[in-house]
Amino acid sequence: GGTAAHEAGQCHDLAQLRQALEAFDALPLKRTAMNTVFADGNPEAEIMCIGEAPGQEEDRQGLPFIGKSGKLLDRMLASIGLDRTNTYITNVVPWRPVDNRKPSPDEIAVCLPFITRHIELVDPKLLILFGGAAASALLARHEGINRLRGRWFDYSSPGLPRPVPAMATFHPAYLLRTPAAKRDAWRDLLTIRKRLDGHS
Ligand code: URA
Repeated sequence: GGTAAHEAGQCHDLAQLRQALEAFDALPLKRTAMNTVFADGNPEAEIMCIGEAPGQEEDRQGLPFIGKSGKLLDRMLASIGLDRTNTYITNVVPWRPVDNRKPSPDEIAVCLPFITRHIELVDPKLLILFGGAAASALLARHEGINRLRGRWFDYSSPGLPRPVPAMATFHPAYLLRTPAAKRDAWRDLLTIRKRLDGHS
């Protein structure tokens, strides 16, 4: 196996990227995970949602956001008329940290070339980043999620034809622990809906 940047750069479609991740062996997280959690939803969708890392249920079934957080994610998307037929869903880190801890900055850094390539291959019209891990990694900003959420950023990478508007909001797992933050999250979702409808 080579470096993530080299491996990811060799991938010219999503099937190849999935294979490269399944073959990647340079991250200890991978060895304790049952599955590589690649993605769910529609790869042709205009909206790409990115979370942090799989939990236990996701690791078991090999699909992102199917546990408790996933149920809330589905409700968040539904509130603006979206579901898994018209969005594409993945995570920054495709392997579950065994103890359900947050992935470390190093683990996120190792996975970054893969998620960057993943975004290039999907080439979405809009990115929704769920939680601080996805937001700071992909927007390359040091502020926390409280500062980053609810604002439009241009996400750029060399393999994208144009910058992609990106908005971060709270992670559904955080909202389950902190229901008072839902008000802000739903405001963010409305901002996204307005942009999709072409008035913002
Ligand atoms: N939390 C995430 O960030 N991603 C998942 O897939 C599940 C829970």
